[in-house]
Order: sequence, then C-alpha cells, then structure tokens
Amino acid sequence: MNDKTDHSTDKSIVMIGLMGAGKTSVGKRLADAMGLPFVDSDDEIADAAGCPIPVIFEKHGEAAFRDLEERVIERLLHEPRCVIATGGGAYMRPETRARINADGITVWIRAELDILVERTGRRGGRPLLEQGNPREILQALMDERYPVYENADVIVDSGNDSHEVTVHQIIDALNQLDEAST
Ligand code: S3P
Repeated sequence: MNDKTDHSTDKSIVMIGLMGAGKTSVGKRLADAMGLPFVDSDDEIADAAGCPIPVIFEKHGEAAFRDLEERVIERLLHEPRCVIATGGGAYMRPETRARINADGITVWIRAELDILVERTGRRGGRPLLEQGNPREILQALMDERYPVYENADVIVDSGNDSHEVTVHQIIDALNQLDEAST
C-alpha cells in the first residue's frame, strides 16, 4: 500500500494519529527542536470557516468539514517546510492521504486506548466523540484507522514517555530516513 520512495528533506513533517495521541503537543516540540514553524490544520480549518470545528460539523456536516480539511492541508503542504499536526480523520480520506503522501513525511503517533480515552476526556470540542460512548468510539476508530496509519514513514509510540523522549525518537527516525534516501 505504501508507494512512497522519496524522503527529500524539504518536505513538511505531517503528524497523523487518533484524537488524544499528542499530535499537536509533540508536533509543537518537534517543530521547535527542528527549527521549523508549526501549524495545526484544525486551527487553520476553523480560521478558514470563521467558526469552531464543532459548529462546522453541526451546521454543514462531516463531509463539508472533510472537503475543507483537504483544501487546507493541500495549501499547508505547499507552504515553506513546517510541521503540520492534522486532525485524526484527515489521513483517512484517500484524496487527502494521497496529497500528504506525495508532499509530506508522515509521522504516526500511536497510542493505546486507555491513553486516548484519558487524554480526550480532558478537552471537549471533538464532535465524533459526542455521538456515544467515547471509549467505544475510539476503539472502533482504532480498528478502522490503525491499518491505514501504518503506512506512515515514521511510527512512534506515545505512552508514558515524556514528549521530549518522543521528539528524540522521531528525529532519530527522520535522520535514518534521510540516510536511507541518499
Ligand atoms: C477528528 C479529529 C479532530 C478534528 C475533528 C475530527 C477525527 O482532530 O479534526 O473533530 O476524525 O478524528 P484531533 O485529532 O486533533 O482531535
């Protein structure tokens, strides 16, 4: 499934993974460590729509959100090199995934169910988790999404390690990718 071969260093780093995995918090620290700008695609989508994500879902539906997400991510991928944290569903839409695979280096922050349940419980504003029992929803999303996230260029586990440790693991893995492609 993974047809990516080129890991050229001018590509942006794209964080993927489920809600609560730590894409934003790790992504920000990764950007700092690499001296790159950081951008969160959910924030950019909310800015473009002029309203928060739950309102986009409520007023326009998930399909409209995914259309906007695809356009915003395409734009971000064409900006100067940066670290992009994406929303958990972005990499699941084939068109968005193709854009990310073509123009980015993907980093999957993998996390176990208990961690995702605990972290997503700390902050609301995630419409998909408001449609039922969050643990059951997250488990179903893991079953559906993890086989696709597995295509990432770099996979790191976000357990009880500090963000700094995770950032170091990512940088090591990115360096190995660079060496392998030269
Ligand atoms: C979603 C994840 C959210 C946000 C939207 C949909 C998803 O982002 O994009 O609520 O489909 O998993 P985070 O992963 O940053 O919470």
